[in-house]
Amino acid sequence: MAKSIYVRNLRKEDLTAIVDIEDRATGVARRAYWEARIDISEAIRPHWASLVAEADNRVVGFVFGRAGELEFGLPGTIAWIEIIGVDPAYRRQGIAAKLIEEFTSSAEDHGIKKILTLVSKSSTEMEHFFTRLGFAQGQMIHFQKDLKS
Ligand SMILES: CC(C)(COP(=O)(O)OP(=O)(O)OC[C@H]1O[C@@H](n2cnc3c(N)ncnc32)[C@H](O)[C@@H]1OP(=O)(O)O)[C@@H](O)C(=O)NCCC(=O)NCCS
Repeated sequence: MAKSIYVRNLRKEDLTAIVDIEDRATGVARRAYWEARIDISEAIRPHWASLVAEADNRVVGFVFGRAGELEFGLPGTIAWIEIIGVDPAYRRQGIAAKLIEEFTSSAEDHGIKKILTLVSKSSTEMEHFFTRLGFAQGQMIHFQKDLKS
């Protein structure tokens, strides 16, 4: 566990840090995408559902989530974890775990009883991560259709 991790709500000014984290992790910098993503979060999503983690006085991890009511035939309000990312240099220090801990605690504070996320079958790291945090495979199945274009 890192010495000092501070989790707070995501702000517009975190854009550059988030772009950089993805760039360092994947080699792809998508400033326009993240700018729009942050705008959506700021505009329509509960503020507690998108968070950043700071360590060494800079943003080193983030989670984007949302709350959805009566969606997919599910009762009540569900919290969704949509994207989570940690700077490669700060991984395995409990940063993502702390982000999810804060996300979970806020969801509980808002009366939410279930958190959902989607994990690719080919991503064993994400599967291990969520399993370690107490998530289990659920009862929903996802459908998809490949398009020609
Ligand atoms: C998955 C991810 C979020 C984990 O972040 P992290 O801060 O390193 O995770 P934590 O340190 O909180 O890990 C908690 C537990 O999850 C498990 N875990 C984390 N990363 C793991 C990995 N790569 N493989 C297997 N298990 C893993 C471990 O059990 C870990 O506990 P331990 O270190 O005590 O064994 C991070 O690796 C990541 O950002 N991956 C890329 C995800 C992505 O593509 N995001 C979008 C673009 S940036």
